Amino acid sequence: NFPNKVKINEVGPRDGLQNEAELVPAAAKIDWINMLSETGASYIEVSSFVHPDWIPQLKDATEVAKKIKRNPDVTYAALVPNNKGLDRALEVNVDEICLFLSASETHNKNNINKTIDQTLPIIENVSSKAKESNKQVRGYVSTVFGCPYEGDIDVEKVISICDRLFTMGVDEISIGDTIGVADPVQVDKVLTKLLKYFPKDKLAMHFHDTRGTALANVLVSLNHGITNFDSAVGGLGGCPYAKGASGNLATDDLLYMLHRMGIETGMNIDKVIESALYIENYVSSLSSHQMKIINSER
Ligand code: HMG
Ligand code: MG
Repeated sequence: NFPNKVKINEVGPRDGLQNEAELVPAAAKIDWINMLSETGASYIEVSSFVHPDWIPQLKDATEVAKKIKRNPDVTYAALVPNNKGLDRALEVNVDEICLFLSASETHNKNNINKTIDQTLPIIENVSSKAKESNKQVRGYVSTVFGCPYEGDIDVEKVISICDRLFTMGVDEISIGDTIGVADPVQVDKVLTKLLKYFPKDKLAMHFHDTRGTALANVLVSLNHGITNFDSAVGGLGGCPYAKGASGNLATDDLLYMLHRMGIETGMNIDKVIESALYIENYVSSLSSHQMKIINSER
């Protein structure tokens, strides 16, 4: 009883590049995003309008968002931490605004320099202004399955944050396994609880594949009827303010599994791999299984 169709959110240009040691030139990012726009992707997270000193890898967000060629079938999204970030994102007219906070107090403080209680009114304000500008709003909740500083996270805390986010008008929430610690049994338990409160079509799952459990966690999520997943080409990525965070679930690995299972995504795996080969010229080697196979054959 798997769904027939799944939506994939390509987060490589944001979550992928934010954690790479190398600074990728803006022109290469633009070319890469233009390639991703032709893969059949319906959502691409292009960059972050955060403080450039905090994430120097994405300090060229304005230039990138301005110069990419927009495909009308693609939603171009960006991360926004506060009103200053929103102004910058609106100036270049991104389609969707992504708010973010952590279910862990310590990670939230390390990542955005605020307590959770200080963060909520800030993003509430951003959300209502984004809505006034007719933007879609996505909310990210991080460290849901474990925090590098605090360990286990109480799912009640996640539920209360999600509740606040939906009350402030967020259209969907992405449930983040920031450091890739989740296992399938835990995902089953957490989703069973979350789905008592929130509709399944309002939740996306955001798995990092640090310990190789991401696809297993996707399978469990599919069993719960979740049809919305975040991933990054080649398995790029991680959060620099979460010790131990590494690659996102790879889009190419996710596509391979879903397509073999007969689940439609609208994306073309060959074109995704072509885009992975392109960005591999600018970053350390890509960790996805698909890329390992291709590189071993070259
Ligand atoms: P702060 O230093 O507390 O900021 O940083 P502030 O509000 O006190 O302002 C200080 C100065 O920064 C001011 O400038 C502001 O104008 C400026 P001054 O008056 O001193 O000249 N400023 C900005 N400049 C540009 N753009 C902005 C901005 N905001 C303030 N948006 C802040 C607070 C949130 C800005 C900072 O902590 C920050 O940028 N953090 C971002 C960290 C980040 O991007 N982490 C990774 C993303 S989260 C993630 O990866 C998880 C996710 O993938 C899901 C998962 O895996 O779980 C989403
Ligand atoms: Mg992430």
